[in-house]
Amino acid sequence: MDYLEINGGKKLSGSISISGAKNAALPLLASTILSKNEVTICNLPDVVDIKTMLRLLENLGATYEYDGDCAKIDSSTINNSKAIYDIVRKMRASILTLGPLLARFGRCEVSLPGGCAIGQRPIDLHLKALEAMGANIEIKQGYVIATAEDGLKGATIIFDKITVTGTENIVMAAALAKGETKIINAAKEPEVVQLCEVLKEAGVEIEGIGSEELIIKGSDRELLDIKDISVIPDRIEAGTYLCAGAITNSKITLNNVNHSHLISIILKLQEMGFDFDLKEDAITIKPAVKIRHANIATSEYPGFPTDMQAQFMALALVANGTSVIEERLFENRFMHVSELHRMGAVITLNNNIATVEGGNELNGADVMATDLRASSALVLAALVANGITRVHRIYHLDRGYVALEQKLSSLGADIKRLKE
Ligand code: EPZ
Repeated sequence: MDYLEINGGKKLSGSISISGAKNAALPLLASTILSKNEVTICNLPDVVDIKTMLRLLENLGATYEYDGDCAKIDSSTINNSKAIYDIVRKMRASILTLGPLLARFGRCEVSLPGGCAIGQRPIDLHLKALEAMGANIEIKQGYVIATAEDGLKGATIIFDKITVTGTENIVMAAALAKGETKIINAAKEPEVVQLCEVLKEAGVEIEGIGSEELIIKGSDRELLDIKDISVIPDRIEAGTYLCAGAITNSKITLNNVNHSHLISIILKLQEMGFDFDLKEDAITIKPAVKIRHANIATSEYPGFPTDMQAQFMALALVANGTSVIEERLFENRFMHVSELHRMGAVITLNNNIATVEGGNELNGADVMATDLRASSALVLAALVANGITRVHRIYHLDRGYVALEQKLSSLGADIKRLKE
């Protein structure tokens, strides 16, 4: 198994390019199930989760060629609608095949994803919405068995909670359903917006893109003509590198970003004392005179993303004063706290609220990655810790960050990947 060894205390400088967004690419790959033609998706991030989704599509009967950052996928050959446990257990986002498979074939079996490190993560809202569209759902031997022999029908769906992959699943299901589907309390994340835009370009009538109310007119099982796609830049990868610049109080530039997706992150960093230069698709973070503490509460887009909570906790450790961080989306997304404690961090936890004391010295230690974003927070803390930190179990990082150690070392960090 690989681990990262980081020798802290180096300033960063220079520029790197941000990769395509994993969480936009995953539903886009799943959406090819709805397509009658071959689809080329470019700006795909070279991370394990993307390969897992391609393997899942292949296992269903699709064929693909993967070259550089583009995949040419032909899902018209799919002849099997069972998403097997062996692949689904590796990646929860496999559930994104449920909506399109059911809409296209009128029947599918998708392994239940199970719990994960950041919380229970149920899929009840996905299932309830599909039932409202006429599906019959049974859970048998760990599989969701969904049937709608005469196809899905348009319905009005009100999500009790805003759900990103839930919205994406129902948007894809509605695209092939009979009649009109209204989704109320839909997610507005840029990744959801890109999926809707791609389907719209494929001929699906969708109103309200980017709002909390979507109206989708389905094709009644006629497959779509999905055009070639370029995945939007990864706002969470960009946010993580902005935190790398901030925690080391350095000036760095990120290319291939979309600032409008980063507003809540930029505003929080400004509140903490950092300044920015914005160009069309680049952003430069500049050192703060004094790093100020800040309070954070995670919420759905356009609020502060839960996927940036751990990285800002690392940053709060070098701020002046005490920061209060409230995690409102996932009940268990504080696994990084006990690992940060091993580096000397002073953080107290009270249910979903972490109180982070800034300004204490951090010291290198052996720490364990627990989930994707928690792992990146450990890397950030290691950049400013005294001496060597070894971050173990970095397969979590490899699921979502492209060449993290190469990008950080090109900015001047002392970081290497080694074998246990
Ligand atoms: C997506 O997960 C992202 N994953 C997550 O990214 C991200 O943290 C999350 O949205 C929130 O922004 C992908 O896009 C592939 P949700 P998702 O359904 O869709 C509750 C990363 O590190 N809920 O929006 O699974 C749920 O428990 C990750 O890249 C139900 O109760 O999240 C949570 O409290 C991890 N029932 C809230 O809704 C349901 O049926 C929001 O979750 C569905 C969700």
